[in-house]
Parts: sequence; C-alpha cells; structure tokens
Amino acid sequence: MTGLFVTLEGGDAAGKTTQAERLEAWLTARGRTVVRTREPGGTDLGLAIRDLVLHREGPVAPRAEALLYAADRAHHVATVVEPALARGDVVLQDRYLDSSVAYQGAGRVLDAGEVRRLSMWAVGGLLPRLTVLLDLDPRVGRDRRADRARFDRLEAEDDAFHERVRDAYLRMAAAEPDRFLVVDAAQGPDVVQDRIRSAIEPLLAAP
Ligand code: TYD
Repeated sequence: MTGLFVTLEGGDAAGKTTQAERLEAWLTARGRTVVRTREPGGTDLGLAIRDLVLHREGPVAPRAEALLYAADRAHHVATVVEPALARGDVVLQDRYLDSSVAYQGAGRVLDAGEVRRLSMWAVGGLLPRLTVLLDLDPRVGRDRRADRARFDRLEAEDDAFHERVRDAYLRMAAAEPDRFLVVDAAQGPDVVQDRIRSAIEPLLAAP
C-alpha cells in the first residue's frame, strides 16, 4: 500500500481542524493508518519554533519568519512525513508550504517564487498529492475567531493582510488545478466534508 499525502490550507478559522478530525475517523474506519500532523509544530523542535514565530514579543523580520517556518518544515518532513509515507500511511496535514507562499509571500510581501523555492529546498521537493483549500472570506473568518481569547502574531494582522493571503491561495489553486481542491468553507461542515471525501476516495487505491 502506498502512502498518501494530503494537506489542508486556508485562512484562520476556515475549519481545517474539524475537517481533519472527521477525515481521520473516516479513513481509519476504512482500515488506513492515518498520521494527523501540522505545521508549524509537528515535532518537538517544531514546537519550539512555533513558539518563537507565533508567540514571541516584538517583531520578527519577514525573511527570518520565512526561514523559521522553512526550518520547521524541513525537520517535520524528514522525521515525520516521509517515514509515514514510506510505511504506506495517509498523512493528513494542517498547513504546508502553500501557507508560507500565502502568509510570508503575499502577506509579508516577500517574493512568492523565492519563498516557494526556499520551502521546496527544505523538503527536497516533496509536494502533496492533494491540497484542500478551505476558502473563506477573511471577514467571516474573523467573526468566527472573535471569541478566541488570544490571537497569534499572524492572526493579529489586519484585513488587508488576510485578503492578500486569500488571493494568493486562490492564485496557487488556479495554477495547480491537479493538486488543489478548492472548497467554499462558508458551507456547512457536512457539505465540506463530503466534497473532500469525494476527492480523496479515488486516491486511496491509486499507486
Ligand atoms: P495554525 O496552527 O493553523 O493556527 P492555529 O492553530 O492558531 O489556528 O497556524 C499558525 C499560524 O502560522 C497561522 O496564522 C498561519 C501561520 N503560518 C505561516 O505564516 N506560514 C507558514 O508556513 C505556516 C505553516 C503557518
């Protein structure tokens, strides 16, 4: 059985965690071993990096931010994702390199191509078989998050930042239609889940 690498992307509060939980249950019931993981913070080293990049007081230079996410990614792919795929597991991952292109590229206004190449170098070119983009108007996302006690450094950015992030995601999806599935995350969670399952189903048997 070959491994399957699926990532979930989108703005904050688009529902990635809920969808991943449900997918994990569905895939497990079908007899697959699922590794549910995330970036930043899918390893011990990554947790330390996550703390540095999201919860540290004071500014972090945009290139330093991009490098910290890339370092987290390099270690995570080498120690968690690749071994899982080699075992034939399904890796369900909350955020991957498209997050860096969207947040550090479009959000922080670094060169998107450079940010992508940095991550591609970090992971030795590993791309997911499927990337689910949960697309949501950032203002709706903000309202969904309104009851959350603490925003991290990225969540605290203004609406224009989150609009740029959303546009960047949609551009990436349009450029790589074979890898991306775009789902309107304003729909109910059951509808969203069904759409994602339909896209994963044919990939389960594929070599
Ligand atoms: P996430 O874990 O999805 O947030 P939370 O668990 O708090 O809902 O992601 C943390 C933040 O990191 C999110 O605001 C997006 C940001 N991020 C980047 O800016 N670049 C990246 O490469 C990644 C993976 C995340």
